[in-house]
Amino acid sequence: MKKPGRGLEIIEVRERQSKLISRLCDFMRQLLPKYYNDLIEKEQINYITFFIHCKAIQNAIKENIFRYCYILKNNKDAGFIKYVIEKDHIYLSQIHIAKRYQKKGIGRFAIEHLKNIALKNGLKLIVSYILTYDTKTQEIFIKLGFKKGAMYTKYIGDKHLFWEDEFRLAISDDPKEANALNEMELDKFKTKPIHSRPYWANGKVITYDDEKF
Ligand SMILES: CC(C)(COP(=O)(O)OP(=O)(O)OC[C@H]1O[C@@H](n2cnc3c(N)ncnc32)[C@H](O)[C@@H]1OP(=O)(O)O)[C@@H](O)C(=O)NCCC(=O)NCCS
Repeated sequence: MKKPGRGLEIIEVRERQSKLISRLCDFMRQLLPKYYNDLIEKEQINYITFFIHCKAIQNAIKENIFRYCYILKNNKDAGFIKYVIEKDHIYLSQIHIAKRYQKKGIGRFAIEHLKNIALKNGLKLIVSYILTYDTKTQEIFIKLGFKKGAMYTKYIGDKHLFWEDEFRLAISDDPKEANALNEMELDKFKTKPIHSRPYWANGKVITYDDEKF
């Protein structure tokens, strides 16, 4: 297991930190299309990028729809995580590490950070969704300790559909308990994703509605 070394910072972005939000926003706008390029249609990428703007990030933080952690390495943009603390789990919406910083243990470090947040909030589960055809990232998530579960359709608004698989990571201070919890989770969610959560899309909050499909 690689250790990310010195100079690594994870900053929880606050609503009033306009300059940091603006920097994060620029970073996300250049990072996300690169990731999605081989995975989804150009039209979908444009659609997603269109909604990445400072006001949306600021509102998401303010309304507690999403939280953002900025990951810096020697003050250079290295990555970010976007997540939200739900009633009984943490939903990890996105984790992105810039290409030149990948495979250096930073992703694992970010997940450890999230685990600590979960434990502090009395939560024992992190849930995330990875594109079904992104097998490489799915493999990395398994290496990070996540279990793969049900396939899931996510509605991001305006006719754009993503097929994703649900990934769950059970957390405990005690590794034995974490293993047992992971097994239990796996049984529970093989057929049905956890759901249901609102999304920030199309400039407003959209609630996923099973019946649309
Ligand atoms: C997925 C991602 C966050 C992982 O971050 P990272 O900093 O590269 O991961 P780490 O260096 O901490 O590695 C974690 C584990 O995965 C393995 N790994 C990392 N990249 C890998 C690759 N390309 N192929 C195979 N294994 C890989 C590491 O060896 C490590 O396993 P180990 O501890 O058993 O050796 C990063 O690759 C990324 O941002 N990808 C693009 C965006 C993305 O897919 N996000 C997820 C969907 S939102």
